[in-house]
Amino acid sequence: MGLSRKKPGGGALLLLWAALARVHSLEIQADSDVQAFVGEAVILKCWFKSSFPVTEKLTIDWTYRPLAGGSLEPIFHYQSDAYPAKKGTFRDRVSWVGNVAKRDASIRINNPTMDDNGTFTCAVKNPPDVQHNIPQTMLTVTQRGASFQLTSAGLLSILVFLPSAIVVALLLVRMAKKLGVLKSKKKCSYKKSSIEVSEEPERPKCKERLAAWCLRCLDSDDEDPY
Ligand SMILES: *[C@@H]1O[C@H](CO)[C@@H](O)[C@H](O)[C@H]1NC(C)=O
Repeated sequence: MGLSRKKPGGGALLLLWAALARVHSLEIQADSDVQAFVGEAVILKCWFKSSFPVTEKLTIDWTYRPLAGGSLEPIFHYQSDAYPAKKGTFRDRVSWVGNVAKRDASIRINNPTMDDNGTFTCAVKNPPDVQHNIPQTMLTVTQRGASFQLTSAGLLSILVFLPSAIVVALLLVRMAKKLGVLKSKKKCSYKKSSIEVSEEPERPKCKERLAAWCLRCLDSDDEDPY
């Protein structure tokens, strides 16, 4: 009798040890915050680590609680096969994208709406592994609004239009300067041809002017970087 009484005690200790071991052997992870846009499918990632091999006993359960409060709603169940909820908020909107062999328990929410804001939980059981942590994922659904388009348009104009406008302005300035040189050249040649041989002193002046123009041109070429 004494021996048989001692044995249950040892068994209880063993059970306690096993229970503690179980607590730490299954670990579930999920994204804590997920942003989604109305109508654009979003994946809620969940993955787990188990010290036991995955068997057909493995179950995955996803639940949803609205941000405004309310009851916990089961939206997805997995055991050997995927069973998306056939009723409720996410009826026909949950797709299985996980792979238990890869320890992936992720789902996809199709066609999110503004009313889907809330907390999702991913629970995995891989008997004899039973999880203790249940990670929560906060989903925030927003409308891809005009504000975003405005900021992207602003960014585009800063990144593309502004530099090209500067380049065009520089090119125009250079062209104007070159035209100016041509004009003075024409003037000079015109003067030269009309005055012909009679006024020699005009030629050096013209050359000087041209040289000055060209120097200015060269100067402006060198100073381009601003
Ligand atoms: C969901 O959250 C977003 C971002 O905070 C908010 O713009 C939207 O109005 C919320 N939807 C509802 C139904 O409260």
